[in-house]
Amino acid sequence: LVRAVPVGCGHYLPARVVENEEFAATLDTTDEWIRTRTGIERRHFAAEGEATSDLATAAARVALADAGLTGADLDALIVATATPDQTFPATAARVQASIGMRGGFAFDIQAVCAGFVFALAQANALILAGSARRVMVIGAETFSRILDFTDRSTCVLFGDGAGALILEAAEGTGGPEDRGILATDLHSDGRYNELLYVDGGPSTTGSAGVVRMAGQEIFKHAVVKLAETGSAALAAAGLSKTDVNWLVPHQANLRIMTMTANKLGVPLDRVVVTVRDHGNTSAASIPLALSVAHAAGRILPGDVLLMEAIGGGLSWGAAVVRW
Ligand code: ACO
Repeated sequence: LVRAVPVGCGHYLPARVVENEEFAATLDTTDEWIRTRTGIERRHFAAEGEATSDLATAAARVALADAGLTGADLDALIVATATPDQTFPATAARVQASIGMRGGFAFDIQAVCAGFVFALAQANALILAGSARRVMVIGAETFSRILDFTDRSTCVLFGDGAGALILEAAEGTGGPEDRGILATDLHSDGRYNELLYVDGGPSTTGSAGVVRMAGQEIFKHAVVKLAETGSAALAAAGLSKTDVNWLVPHQANLRIMTMTANKLGVPLDRVVVTVRDHGNTSAASIPLALSVAHAAGRILPGDVLLMEAIGGGLSWGAAVVRW
């Protein structure tokens, strides 16, 4: 049986760091409010002229070096993003060109904050079907471009960044002891559009629009749905909560992450937390957290990782990966 096994990862954060205090200068907010309600202390914002594909390319290069590969070694490239460079072509096609990947195919996935988990599931399916042997999955966002900086309830939450993971086909036994993607669990429910959306787009307003969110409602859905999808993915992998070495959640809000870990029964010292320094980077948050933990030497071969995310759509899901 074929498995999609991780062989390298990397991340990139734009140079500019924006501390909570910067928002307090122009909005009726405080560092104290943002920190205690969300866990966020700072985030990175892309420089003028720095696009999502630039962030994605930088992360991709680190992942390729980590795997000892070049762009030419990839068969497929998937970018999960809600903030593409252009309406079309796909941001993935721009990244494909800039990393020197001349063959294969590249496309984007749009599932907002759940985008990385959705993209992982597609990469897994491509590898299991024999359509690709080596796939790079990138989550990359410039959410700073779609924020309403007069709305204190949304603009303080998000940041920019990118993370990349390379997967390669390898033989496994089919059991939970295999390395690689062991299970994925995906969901969406389009009835919840109004809870979290961008109020523009090419076929409606003709402009990019800005993020609109009913924060408390999203919070309630998040805690229930993330615990459900996390448990479902673990069961599908033939594993239980005690097998989880690292919970790598979407980094939206420390309180959501803590409540979800408690519901899943994963101890808090097994949760990778980067939201303090990154804010919510949407589709980039899981691969960013993964790559930061990997670079720090915290993720060891054989470790079981549970990733889970929820975002606009609503869209949510989880993946279980043995490193
Ligand atoms: N500074 C100060 N006060 C604020 C701020 C701010 N930045 N933002 C909101 N407030 C105020 C509100 O106006 C409200 O005031 P009021 O009581 O006078 O009306 C008060 O704080 C409480 O607001 P709530 O919305 O009830 O605050 P809550 O504790 O729910 O925290 C938050 C808000 C942080 C947004 C929280 O609901 C949350 O994190 N929700 C989930 C969001 C999320 O995860 N979104 C990402 C999904 S990802 C994606 O797909 C893009």
